[in-house]
Amino acid sequence: MNNFNFYSPTYFAFGKDREQDVGALVKRFGGTKVLIHYGGGSVVRSGLMERVKASLDGAGIDHVSLGGVKPNPRSGLVYEGIDLARSEGVDFILAVGGGSTIDSSKAIAAGAVYDGDFWDFYSGKPIEKALPVGTVLTIAAAGSEGSPDSVITNEHGMFKRGASGDAIRPRFSVLNPALTQTLPPYQTACGITDILAHLYERYLTNTKEVEVTDRMIEALMLTMIHEGPRVIENPDNYEARANIMWAGMMAHNNSCGVGRSQDWNSHNIEHELSALYDCAHGAGLAVTMPAVFSYVLDHDVMRFAQVAVRVWGCAMDFNHPEATARAGIEALRRFLTDLGMPRNFYELGAHEADIPKLVDALCNGDGRPGHITGFVTLNQEDCENIYRMML
Ligand code: NZQ
Ligand code: ZN
Repeated sequence: MNNFNFYSPTYFAFGKDREQDVGALVKRFGGTKVLIHYGGGSVVRSGLMERVKASLDGAGIDHVSLGGVKPNPRSGLVYEGIDLARSEGVDFILAVGGGSTIDSSKAIAAGAVYDGDFWDFYSGKPIEKALPVGTVLTIAAAGSEGSPDSVITNEHGMFKRGASGDAIRPRFSVLNPALTQTLPPYQTACGITDILAHLYERYLTNTKEVEVTDRMIEALMLTMIHEGPRVIENPDNYEARANIMWAGMMAHNNSCGVGRSQDWNSHNIEHELSALYDCAHGAGLAVTMPAVFSYVLDHDVMRFAQVAVRVWGCAMDFNHPEATARAGIEALRRFLTDLGMPRNFYELGAHEADIPKLVDALCNGDGRPGHITGFVTLNQEDCENIYRMML
């Protein structure tokens, strides 16, 4: 196991009706004037926004609002949010929504106290200072409620890039699984796929002897495989939604990724798809993951065979471990298809003719060195081959 630091101070308020505590939580973490940031309106239509504002009012906390965050959040609204936060003298950013809203809130929080262009943070500058951020989560997916990360799409060039820093880890996150019951099945399935992807990205490691984190990841994968179909079948199943919501947080706050190298090639390859086609991140991952895993399988056949046996219940073929490894990837593909996820470029709305553009943005865009690195290093030819496997 490698040396590591683990710092995850987010306060979680989990369970039914917990959004009623949001005013008290903002107060506890020092906020006096809040910018409430939200998306395309689901939180208004569900009545959640009204309850959040009532809780802030009850705690005597002043607030202004900025809606309109789109899935795959854009830099344009971040600049608007930074201006608003400064002109209103806001000292706390409250995200009410999904990963896109939370990531846009984190970008505003970092940009509002920075003299330069906030995009510097998405070009590699670490985030060291930010306004405090709190979240009320409405979809189990991105894990941004417990992560130090934010992913934003730059409209000038449509690059989708990430920024990171403990300063943007949420001070608190309200996780009420009942809030996710209004999700359309497709979005629920996208979230399940993203959570599984966060687990795979950590499972694919070159570090040896990481039994504790291997076993934690496997447990979370098994939970998703058990609960995913239950919640698609019955969207009102609170207990299944509760297990998925906590698994989604655990999958990405890095408690099961510490002390080991990680992959993230599937995410990087997918980010170009959601940047170009504005597809849901989870849907893009459903098409990307089986292709990437099949392409890199030879790098460590036994790792893929291990997840196939321990998680997907495949029989170990000791004479042909590669067959076991492939059976695990097939089981993942079938699971995602059964959830209603797309299987290929066509079903995702992507086009073969764009492959050179995707590869260029992925490997060279925004100062990248001509390749991407994770579990294995992938050059432009590898990335082109992988996109072609998705056709
Ligand atoms: O915008 P509204 O109207 O709220 O509708 C949203 C949106 O259309 C809807 N929705 C959310 N909660 C709902 C609901 N509809 C009905 N009822 C509810 N309770 O769902 C749609 C998707 O929302 P979004 O916030 O985009 O979803 P998600 O949480 O999957 O976030 C995706 C973004 O997170 C990034 C992705 O790249 C993508 O941009 N990621 C962020 C990460 C991080 N910060 O750590 C890591 C991830 O790997 C990921 O890359
Ligand atoms: Zn993701």
